[in-house]
Amino acid sequence: MQISVKRDEGYTTYELAEGAYTLLEALQKIKHEIDNTLAFSSGCRSSVCGSCAMRVNEQEVLACSYKVQDGDRVEPLNNMPVVRDLVVDMDSALQKNANAKAWIESFAKMALNHEDEKVNEVQSDCILCGSCYSSCPVYAVNGEFLGPFALTRVWKYVSDKREIKPKTKIDTIQQNGIWDCTLCNNCTVVCPQNISSKADIEKLRAKSSQFGYIDPNFGSFGGGFGLGDGDPIF
Ligand code: SF4
Ligand code: SF4
Ligand code: FES
Repeated sequence: MQISVKRDEGYTTYELAEGAYTLLEALQKIKHEIDNTLAFSSGCRSSVCGSCAMRVNEQEVLACSYKVQDGDRVEPLNNMPVVRDLVVDMDSALQKNANAKAWIESFAKMALNHEDEKVNEVQSDCILCGSCYSSCPVYAVNGEFLGPFALTRVWKYVSDKREIKPKTKIDTIQQNGIWDCTLCNNCTVVCPQNISSKADIEKLRAKSSQFGYIDPNFGSFGGGFGLGDGDPIF
């Protein structure tokens, strides 16, 4: 079995014994038995810590859960600076949590029942693997875009009934935020935790409308299709 790994100097192909193992096990085999200079990140080895996210055949995966196959091409995550080989610097993406103020703003003490907890249970499962930012075409061209996991976190707190200032949170995500998303759904497809940031962004848009915000992109159609003086209104 052969796999190719994108390294600083280009793709290197490694020959591995046939077997059912994960990509992380394959990388560890390479490091211990073939080339100890290969760099990659890992932690829990059980899909919990999020540190082993990378791309295989142009799709984001967790190396510790992906079953490696003959001919796989392995690359670091997209849209983040490569530190070395498969190791990326996620600082800019993680900074988006702070930029989006992805925390509870003003806390009212009250008990949550089971139904309340269900409202944002999935959003709480994010393991900050970065796969969604790697797959996002908007983040690829605009490093200021708040991006998928930060906006999912904002929805988590906006939908928490203990948050008594949801508008403050909604105000923060208008610029480089919810209206910039193309709703392409890439982030949903790659998320190992079955989180749909796209769906969360749609809910944040609906919430923004309740606070009087409108999609600024509507304005950009006005020049071509807007009514002129004296045009009939149907
Ligand atoms: S939302 Fe999903 S893909 Fe994005 S960082 Fe969290 S777990 Fe990873
Ligand atoms: S749905 Fe929006 S946030 Fe998700 S990948 Fe597409 S553009 Fe990015
Ligand atoms: S090593 Fe922790 S998620 Fe893969």
